[in-house]
Amino acid sequence: MSETSPAAVLILAAGEGKRMKSRIPKVLHTLCGRTLLGHALAAADELNPARLVVVVGHGREQVTAQVAAAAPQAQIVRQDQQLGTGHAVRMVTEAIGVVPGTVVVSYGDMPLLRGETLRELVDRHHRAGNAVTVLTAQGDAAGYGRIVRDGDGEFLRIVEERDATQAERAIDEYNSGCYAFDGTLLADAIKRVTTNNQQQQEYLTDVVDILRGDGHRVGTMLAANAGEITGVNDRAQLAEARRELNDRILDGWMRAGVTIIDPASTWIDVTVTIGQDAEIGPQTQLQGASVIGEGARVGPGCLLEDTTVGEDAFVLHAVCRQAEIGPRATVGPYAYLRPGTRLAEGAHVGAHVELKNASVGPGAKVPHLTYVGDATIGAGANIGAGTIFANYDGVAKNHTTVGEDAFVGSNTVLVAPVTVGDGAYTAAGSAITDEVPPGNLGVARGRQHNSDGWTARNRPGSRSADAAKRVRSDESI
Ligand code: UD1
Ligand code: CA
Repeated sequence: MSETSPAAVLILAAGEGKRMKSRIPKVLHTLCGRTLLGHALAAADELNPARLVVVVGHGREQVTAQVAAAAPQAQIVRQDQQLGTGHAVRMVTEAIGVVPGTVVVSYGDMPLLRGETLRELVDRHHRAGNAVTVLTAQGDAAGYGRIVRDGDGEFLRIVEERDATQAERAIDEYNSGCYAFDGTLLADAIKRVTTNNQQQQEYLTDVVDILRGDGHRVGTMLAANAGEITGVNDRAQLAEARRELNDRILDGWMRAGVTIIDPASTWIDVTVTIGQDAEIGPQTQLQGASVIGEGARVGPGCLLEDTTVGEDAFVLHAVCRQAEIGPRATVGPYAYLRPGTRLAEGAHVGAHVELKNASVGPGAKVPHLTYVGDATIGAGANIGAGTIFANYDGVAKNHTTVGEDAFVGSNTVLVAPVTVGDGAYTAAGSAITDEVPPGNLGVARGRQHNSDGWTARNRPGSRSADAAKRVRSDESI
């Protein structure tokens, strides 16, 4: 824990978020690979707080489950009725008691707020020796609480828009909703907050006035970037926040030496990692725990979820989920790599190929129009166009093994469970149901029979019959 680590961060997330018009609680809507709340938890985590507390109310069960998954160390405090931001904080002090030290309060619906900004707030708070330091912003203040100062510019209090006078509404500095408090003083002051306001709610903002009235020092920190503190209230704001956060993520990768051809059509989750000199093409989305190796080229037109791409690999127009693509492997265009696909170094998967739970060995090729399910393909093997690994017998999924440097002829059906040995071949069009031992050729199809003169007999006078006639020496047909 660093010297400036707060004693606690409280995240208020009990509100309903009516304007989302959703079955999902507002804070569980996602952007750039995390929920709104997930971003708030990640920012809080950057402060290394001794305790992390989330206030939940609406959609309590779903929100609690998300907190347990994203931040298992967090404590949950219930606020069954949303009687105001002050009431929410009072529920916390009633549940966990006084927290001596610095207590940061933030919201679950401000996904653009950086941990860095919170850290700076805590640092300023400590250096100034304040009882409370309010993070403020300047700009279009409509809808926000205004920061009221006296003639000398001394911070006095926060007034909500609905309670503000005409003159107060003209103030362009507003309250972000994010604060650093002295925990002991907060616990005392929160008990004295009244509901004497237009909404008849307990306002956390009133704590500022109470503390100043007690003779404590109150202060503000103006956010360098007002955009960071915009909350998400509806889906249009969610889209704006997503665009903003995505721009930030892309900017970070470009500064780290990644080429992004078209930032406007590229979407990268915060959880993705990309190596230097990788190139991300247009219309590409990199999601979840995806890792892109150095020098790899991904896109145009890729959707990768929890997928690893090795160094200098090339993936074009592909959908890949929970797949591993080895170094220098090539994928696409128009490939679908489903969970459990593992391509070794230099392997190639081509157009209109789908794989699932399948390992493709080093340098092996599956170039065209093929389904590979539940299989192991050895190094250097070649799978002919149109091959189907028939893994499902209607009851169970079965495994197919193709050996090293084996050659599976075009349009083979490999009926699992089955093995094609090292260096073995299958004849094109075979339905292979039994083992093909190493070095053998497996042929499993009807032998060809030609019916001589069939066209002349059955399609007399047709263009086909004329064509045949032109090249046949036996004038009788
Ligand atoms: C609040 C501030 C306002 C500030 C604005 C910034 C107060 C009284 N006002 O206003 O000065 O400019 O935030 O966005 O604090 N919440 C609970 N329980 C409640 C009420 C709210 O958990 O009982 C949570 C909400 O889920 C939300 C956050 O607190 O995440 C803010 O609540 P909201 O109702 O949006 O506050 P505002 O009225 O916008
Ligand atoms: Ca709000």
